[in-house]
Amino acid sequence: MKFTHHSVRVLALVTACAGALPLVASAEAPPSATPRSPEKVYASTCGYCHGRNVGPVILGRGLPVVAIEAMVRNGLNAMPAFRPSEISDVELAAVAAWVSASAANGQEHGK
Ligand code: HEC
Repeated sequence: MKFTHHSVRVLALVTACAGALPLVASAEAPPSATPRSPEKVYASTCGYCHGRNVGPVILGRGLPVVAIEAMVRNGLNAMPAFRPSEISDVELAAVAAWVSASAANGQEHGK
């Protein structure tokens, strides 16, 4: 199955809202610069708030991958939305899977 970049994002939104199907479209993202590792994306972007009392702790909670991806693309209240130009679909899929499967980090503090 082939999606345009736009339809991938729409599908991601619809899928996330329906909360039903797993998000498989991420693999179809156009190749960009070399994707950053999930650890790098988390450390440079997410951990800036999460784990430093700005947002809730998200590591070690087994949060669903689809929920993480939807949150990053849509934002919520003080949680900013990130565009594919900031975090590519490939990077988002990787960081969401990494966060979901991560162990808790005892050095982090959430609110
Ligand atoms: C500027 C600070 C900030 C940054 C950067 C940030 N977040 Fe958040 N995030 C928040 C806040 C605040 C909330 C709580 C939103 C609410 O419920 O009102 C949140 C909520 C979340 C949730 C829902 C947690 C739950 O308990 O259900 C997830 C998942 C999440 N963020 C993932 C990420 C990921 C992944 C990144 C990095 C790509 C990221 N966030 C970057 C501030 C941030």
